[in-house]
This record gives sequence, C-alpha cells and structure tokens, in this order.
Amino acid sequence: MTMTAELSHVARMADRAAGFQPSPVRAVFDVSMQPGMISLAGGNPYLAALPMEKIAAMVGDVVAARGLDALQYGSGAGTEELAELICRVMELEGISASPENVQITAGSQMGLELVTKLFCNPGDVVIAEGPTYVGALGVFEGFQAEVAHVAMDEDGVVPETLQATISALKAAGKTIKFFYTIPNFNNPSGISLSLERRQQVVDICRAEGVAIVEDNPYGLLSFDGDLKPALHTLDPDNVFYLGSFSKIFAPGLRTGWVVAPKEVRGRLQIASEATTICPSVLSQMVVEQYITGFDWRGQIDTFSAVYAARCHATLAALAEHMPEGTHWTTPTGGFFTWVTLPEGCDTDQVLAVAIEAGVVFVPGSAFYADGGGRNQLRIAFSYAPADQLAEGVKRLAEAIKAALGQAS
Ligand SMILES: Cc1ncc(COP(=O)(O)O)c(C=O)c1O
Repeated sequence: MTMTAELSHVARMADRAAGFQPSPVRAVFDVSMQPGMISLAGGNPYLAALPMEKIAAMVGDVVAARGLDALQYGSGAGTEELAELICRVMELEGISASPENVQITAGSQMGLELVTKLFCNPGDVVIAEGPTYVGALGVFEGFQAEVAHVAMDEDGVVPETLQATISALKAAGKTIKFFYTIPNFNNPSGISLSLERRQQVVDICRAEGVAIVEDNPYGLLSFDGDLKPALHTLDPDNVFYLGSFSKIFAPGLRTGWVVAPKEVRGRLQIASEATTICPSVLSQMVVEQYITGFDWRGQIDTFSAVYAARCHATLAALAEHMPEGTHWTTPTGGFFTWVTLPEGCDTDQVLAVAIEAGVVFVPGSAFYADGGGRNQLRIAFSYAPADQLAEGVKRLAEAIKAALGQAS
C-alpha cells in the first residue's frame, strides 16, 4: 500500500525533479565511515586547525551580548556590518565592492542556486569548465539548464575553446545565460586560471554578451601566498562573484555571499527571502566577531600550511606508486588534485576494487554533465592526515594496477 502511494508521488513530481540524483560525493560518505577506510573523497576543511575554545567563547559572547538580535529574524540582504566586512575580505583579491552589492546567503551553494533561479529557463545553456563542481551540476540540473563544458589545460580554461563553444552554441540557436567558472584551485581539478587568460576570458564573455559567475571559495588558500586578481576586478558589471566563509572559517555556519550589480542584487534578495526569509543572524554575527576580533588572516595561513603539507604528501605518493601513463595536476592551493588514468581505464569500476582495498575517492564522471571524465578521478587532500593520504594513494594505485591487469 505504502509502496503504491510512493510510486504515484514520484510520477506526479515536476519535470525538474526527474534529474535529481544523490550527490556522488555524498553517495560514498557512508563507505568513508567504515572502520579502516581511508577517504580521498570528501573535500571537508580541516576544522581541527581552529582554536575551538576561542570560537566557543566567541559564540557565547555573541549570544550573551546581542542575543535578542542574533536569535531574531533579520534583514533579507544580510547584516550591514557583515556586508562591510565581506568587502574588506574581498579587497585581498583586488575586489572593490560596496555593501549594497552584497547579498549574504547560507553558503555559496545557495548563492549559485539563487543566480541560476534568476537567470535560467529550462533549455538555457550554462557553460562550465570540464570538469566542474558537482554541486553546481546539481543546481543546473534542478533548473533544467543544459551544461556545455569547456576543456581546461594546466593554465585553466582555454580561451579559444571558450570562444568556439560560444560561437557553436549560438549557431545552434541556443541561449547561453552564463559562464560558470572556479578560477582558483578549481574543484575538482586543482587548476587555476592564468593571469593572462583572465583578461581574455572576461573580454570574450563581455563581447559575446555572456555573464560570468565566478565561484571562489578557495582563492585565499594559496600555498605560496600568490593571490590572483578575481575576474570580478576586470569587469564588475558582467561578473557575479560567489564567496564563502566555509573554507576560510567553517562550513557549519553556512555563510557565503554573492556580489552583483545593484539591479541583480535586489532580485537575488527577493529570491533569497522566498527560500530562507533571511540568512542566519547568529551565524553572521559569529563571522563578524571572527573577522573583527580574531587573527583570521593568520588562521588562513595556518589552514594553507596544513593543506600545502597534505598536498605535498599526496603528490609524492602519486609519484611513488601510480602506474606508468597516469598523470595528475600540481595544485598551488585549495583541496584537490585531479588524476588521469590511461585511456580505457574506467574509474567507476576502479572504485569498487578500491573500496575492497580500503580507500574511497570520487570518480571523474561525477564532475561532467556529458559522461566525460571516465578515466579520471578526484583526490581530496584537505581532511586526512599526510600518512593516511600516502597509504590511501598506495591502495588506490594497487586498485588501478589491478584494473589495468598489472596487479603486483
Ligand atoms: C566550487 C565550490 N563552490 C561552492 C561550494 C559550496 O560552498 P558553501 O559551503 O559556501 O555552500 C563548494 C563546496 O565544496 C565548492 O567546492
């Protein structure tokens, strides 16, 4: 009886629900929890690097001193104080924005959802790097937008390919709404867009009337201190910028933001209010406290040093154990490296063998909307300690060799 009712509910769902899939990252979450399993899958920040007692005191102080406001509904745009501070944070990447251009959200995931909701009709095209963030693909799917991927090399998206893709889509009569890009320490590839190409990409999009959605949660987590100017600095009227405190502070606070021209920001607020009424005032006040009363830039250095050491251990283990014909990226920041196996080696199949061997990762096909990435995979080095990363890569290499028929 219950079964029949459930089936008919599914049949009645809106067209947009047809493509809803569990996130491939979350799908391996339960496996990651098995005893003895090493996870190279989830890109969780290493929160143990935060001084928890100080953070606890900060949260306590906010409630004690400002509880009546912190626990109340607040402005749909977010607090003015935090919008001001966000502008200061963004100055580190050259962005000069004013608080009235800032919409605060429950994480940059929500920012992307709001932008997509505002711009995409079913059948509209979003251009995205190949590979791209799996959570973005979920958003585009939810609004029935089509995704056209543009290939990257070690300097990021290739401008000539971007231009050719736009021209081909237009020739096919498609409506392109925006180019979604993660220009710094891309999730999943770890690749950053070179300085020279930033201007080219911005110029192409401006000339073609395609907006840019710049998603930048990792930009400040550079291993060598090199911070490239945000695309937003090059064309503020055509670039919607997504920022987040998830990686430079803590994702549990669910606090991110969108920077957009005034007329877009106003509509984002209306769309946001329809979803959450207002961003959590408590979270916003804790973040305010963090930026004003704590050495948050020192904390970014601490985080970056942890991730740099873990990245180094991962790359060293890859060099030691991976079979011939395997390649990987060399990130200079962020959480991920991207591994390409010899043609024909299917990482969905490798995953089953790897789990048997006690290691889990996310197969490359998760990061493409078009079935690409089959011989690729993502390694997250942000969470596991260096010795576990090295052991995990060793187990992974054995699983790959088994898939290639080279088992030792
Ligand atoms: C590229 C990218 N964008 C957005 C997000 C979502 O971040 P937030 O926690 O701010 O919603 C992530 C999280 O992993 C990400 O990697």
